[in-house]
Amino acid sequence: MKKKVAIIGAGGLGREIAALMKALPEEFEITGFYDDTVPVGTTLLAIPVRGAIDKLRSASGPIHVIVAIGDPQIKQKIISSLPSHIQYPVVIHPSVVLGDKSTISLGQGTVLTAGVKLTVDITIGDHVLINLNSTIGHNTSIGNLCSIMPGVNLAGGVTLGERVLIGSGANVINRVSIGDDAKVGSGAVVLNNILAKTTAVGVPARTLK
Ligand SMILES: CC(C)(COP(=O)(O)OP(=O)(O)OC[C@H]1O[C@@H](n2cnc3c(N)ncnc32)[C@H](O)[C@@H]1OP(=O)(O)O)[C@@H](O)C(=O)NCCC(=O)NCCS
Repeated sequence: MKKKVAIIGAGGLGREIAALMKALPEEFEITGFYDDTVPVGTTLLAIPVRGAIDKLRSASGPIHVIVAIGDPQIKQKIISSLPSHIQYPVVIHPSVVLGDKSTISLGQGTVLTAGVKLTVDITIGDHVLINLNSTIGHNTSIGNLCSIMPGVNLAGGVTLGERVLIGSGANVINRVSIGDDAKVGSGAVVLNNILAKTTAVGVPARTLK
C-alpha cells in the first residue's frame, strides 16, 4: 500500500530524496517537508514546507518519516527526539542493484539512491544513507545512522560502526573496520582500521591529530 511520508530536512539532500520518492508514485506520497530553518509556506519541488520538526514530535497516530540529513550526529539527535510510533520506510531507487536480495538486510529508514550497488551478504543498519553510485562489497556491515556520500567504494568484509561518515569518492579496502562516530574525508583511500571518534583523510588515509 502507498505510504504517506513526511521528509525531515528541506536542504539539498531533502530535495534529492524527495525527487527519488516522486519517481516511485506507487510506493510513496510525500506529505511535506519539516525543517527548523525553512519558512512554512515555502514550496520546493511542488511540495510544501509544513513547519518545524517539533510539529512531527506532537503528531499522533501512525506516520511515516524519512530523515534527509547527512550529518550522522544530527540525524541521531533528531530521530531520538521523535515519538516511538513514527515509522521509517526504506527507500530504494529503481536503478539500485542488489546482488542477492536474500543475503542483504536493510534497516528501517535506509535510503539507497541512484546507481548504488550492493553485492552479497551485507547488513545495513537503520537510517543509513548510501548515496549516488556507491558500491558495497560482500560481507560488509554498516551500522545505524551511517552516511555514505556519493561515489564511495567499500570493498569486501568492511565493518562500519554507528554514525560513521564516509566522504564522497573515498575507497575503503577489504577487511577494514571503522569505529563509531569516525569520519573519512572525501577522496581518502583507507588501508587500515580507523578508531572510533577520529577523522582520517588523504591517500593513504591518516588520522587527523
Ligand atoms: C574529513 C572532513 C569530515 C573533515 O572535516 P573537518 O573536521 O571540518 O576538518 P577541516 O575542514 O577543519 O580540515 C582539517 C584538516 O584536514 C584537511 N582535510 C579535510 N578534508 C580533507 C580531505 N577530504 N582530504 C584531504 N585533507 C582534508 C584540511 O585541509 C585540514 O588540513 P590542515 O589542518 O592542514 O589545514 C571533511 O573535510 C570531509 O571530507 N567531509 C566529507 C564531505 C562530503 O563528502 N560531502 C558530500 C556531500 S554530498
